[in-house]
Amino acid sequence: MDVLLTGGSGQVGTELRGLAWPDGVTLHAPGRNELDLADPGSVARTVASRRFDAVISSGAYTAVDKAEGDVATAWAVNALAPAILAAETAKAGIPLVHVSTDYVFPGDKDGAYREDDPVGPRNVYGASKEGGEQAVRTANPRHAILRTAWVVSPHGANFVKTMLRLARDRDEIRVVADQHGCPTFAVDLARAIQHVTLALARDGNAPAGTFHLVNDGEATWAGFAEAIFAASAARGGPSARVVPITTADYPTPARRPANSRLATNRIGEAYGLRPRPWRAALDETVAALL
Ligand SMILES: NC(=O)c1ccc[n+]([C@@H]2O[C@H](COP(=O)([O-])OP(=O)(O)OC[C@H]3O[C@@H](n4cnc5c(N)ncnc54)[C@H](OP(=O)(O)O)[C@@H]3O)[C@@H](O)[C@H]2O)c1
Repeated sequence: MDVLLTGGSGQVGTELRGLAWPDGVTLHAPGRNELDLADPGSVARTVASRRFDAVISSGAYTAVDKAEGDVATAWAVNALAPAILAAETAKAGIPLVHVSTDYVFPGDKDGAYREDDPVGPRNVYGASKEGGEQAVRTANPRHAILRTAWVVSPHGANFVKTMLRLARDRDEIRVVADQHGCPTFAVDLARAIQHVTLALARDGNAPAGTFHLVNDGEATWAGFAEAIFAASAARGGPSARVVPITTADYPTPARRPANSRLATNRIGEAYGLRPRPWRAALDETVAALL
């Protein structure tokens, strides 16, 4: 079995490449020099370059603030590229597993978002990812759209790395305390993506559709920072005092949803996947980074 992975150098892609894949399964992860997601021709050529059995679409324009001023590239990478992947995989009769985001939601719900809740992105990144979702749904019925959130790992740019870096120089760090979400460890997401991809590739009747996949539990950024510093301090690493601030105190080019918590019941029922609590996963990543 040959599986094509986009975004193989990202946080999630790196974990997917690091997993043990069953004998007979080869993961192909072309870099940006071979596969440019902003170039429709490059995307189509790559899918057609061999007889793949499944495609995992994890590559994305993830710079949420930068996207506000770079709408065309964000839409090319986050909406048009998934549209082409969906069309090409449908033509080849193979499944597409596409990673999407909590930022498709507006953030004004009281409670965790379910898969069928109405979307309403508040920024360019979220809108472009929502465009990608629609294209995937429309073009290839054999798809799984896995929405995730607040992804962290020992690789790439993420909140855990930023907090540990800042704490090396500062005693006190101001962190937003009025945005609520679900921290997610890339390795747990990668295991789930692998499971769903193999199921869809092996069984034409495996559950398709949109699923939420985040670690169990919720946090604010300030609460997440406190947990990171507690885990770090317990290992003799840097820590700082967290000063809770509001979103209004920390203006950014892109608006963010105040609540982007995701309910994960559906993937539990469909695939038996129940990711561990984020607090249980945190120490592993902090340890790797120290
Ligand atoms: N990070 C989060 O907090 C978060 C939250 C919700 C959903 N998600 C979704 O989860 C998925 C994986 O995110 P991640 O955290 O692994 O992202 P990431 O670490 O930012 O990695 C993004 C990946 O996309 C690739 N990429 C971007 N533009 C490209 C282009 N024009 N051509 C080819 N490759 C390109 C990058 O390649 P280079 O290394 O060459 O730049 C990299 O491999 C994405 O679909 C994202 O939207 C992420």
